[in-house]
Amino acid sequence: MNLASILENQNIEKRIAITPEIAKKYISLDFNLSLPKNYGAHLGISDDEYKNLGVNLLNNEEEIIKNSEIIIQLGLPEEKKLSLIKENQTLIGSLSAFVNKEKLKNLTIKKINCFSLELLPRITRAQSMDILSSQANLAGYKAVVEAFQAYERAIPMMMTAAGTIPAAKVLVVGAGVAGLQAIATAKRMGAVVFATDVRMASKEQVESLGGKFLMVEGAENLETEGGYAREASDEFKKKQEQLLSETLKKIDIIICTALIPGKEAPKIIKEDMFKNLQPGSIIYDLAAVQGGNTAFTEVDKIVEKDGVKILGEANILNKLPVSASNLYAKNVFNFISNLYDKENKKLNINLEDEIIEKTLIK
Ligand code: NAI
Repeated sequence: MNLASILENQNIEKRIAITPEIAKKYISLDFNLSLPKNYGAHLGISDDEYKNLGVNLLNNEEEIIKNSEIIIQLGLPEEKKLSLIKENQTLIGSLSAFVNKEKLKNLTIKKINCFSLELLPRITRAQSMDILSSQANLAGYKAVVEAFQAYERAIPMMMTAAGTIPAAKVLVVGAGVAGLQAIATAKRMGAVVFATDVRMASKEQVESLGGKFLMVEGAENLETEGGYAREASDEFKKKQEQLLSETLKKIDIIICTALIPGKEAPKIIKEDMFKNLQPGSIIYDLAAVQGGNTAFTEVDKIVEKDGVKILGEANILNKLPVSASNLYAKNVFNFISNLYDKENKKLNINLEDEIIEKTLIK
């Protein structure tokens, strides 16, 4: 089968969907693989590296699209490229099914098979394909690195002849995949870490990483069957606000990661809570694109409010695109291995398979 990837819009996406390591795996499964020239050049991957593995490097993306049965991307391609994809071709990526609902609908009308991998069910069999986890894990790590970089003091406690520097105190809001990695990273750097979540299961996970879990008193567990968070009641939000307001008085750095699938991010650090933070404090808001967990978050801007800096970016993964691509490319390869009928050398879109059924746009 002919498999390909084309260039992403590099103003917004630096990750790639096929790394040389994974190209080799596709070729060993007998895929005929085509990529545009300079596909990985911005990540230091030369065309020769792909060529030596047997990849066809072409100048013309139109030709690549026309001759491919499967196209693997990060985001949904721009309209001009998208219009070149035809009936019975398959597009696989992190296509933002909720945001791009209309565009994807038009593709399904044209009988193009679209698989959006952020829709993967969180089941054990899908773990090796789980792009949300692999990317959130890196995002959680990098958010801490960015916040620590912006913080104008040392992070670990240091006892020196010239005096003692106290350890920085970090609060992680939302202890899912990104939050747990943020806790682990901050602990490794010597910070004292607090965390909160609406799912009770996260308490044990936070504590196992050495974090202190902030429990909203008398709260019900807001976990859905799928393992995600439900929106909190007004009563819960009020109790959480009181608990966090008190805690903020001793916090130096906040890493926000709280999300509710398909909804705007919950506003957790409200306007009047800022008075409890010390000037010089840093907030890194990983929920920025979904509206932010703070009252003042703006995408791709450093907002200053009463001496507190609030950071948040459209795509923090562009700051470690090599690691992010390595994991993403592996996730997609594992997804395709499950979709591909190796004996008959064709895709088997078996809707009885939960992984295939949930990710296929209908
Ligand atoms: P997410 O990115 O949707 O949300 C991040 C975190 O924010 C979640 O822990 C959520 O509970 C929390 N949150 C939402 N509203 C909040 C609020 N008002 N206050 C405080 N926290 C709030 O979730 P993510 O990181 O993708 O993971 C969700 C769950 O799925 C976790 O339990 C994770 O362990 C589980 N999971 C299971 C996998 C599996 O294969 N079994 C794979 C990956 C994740």
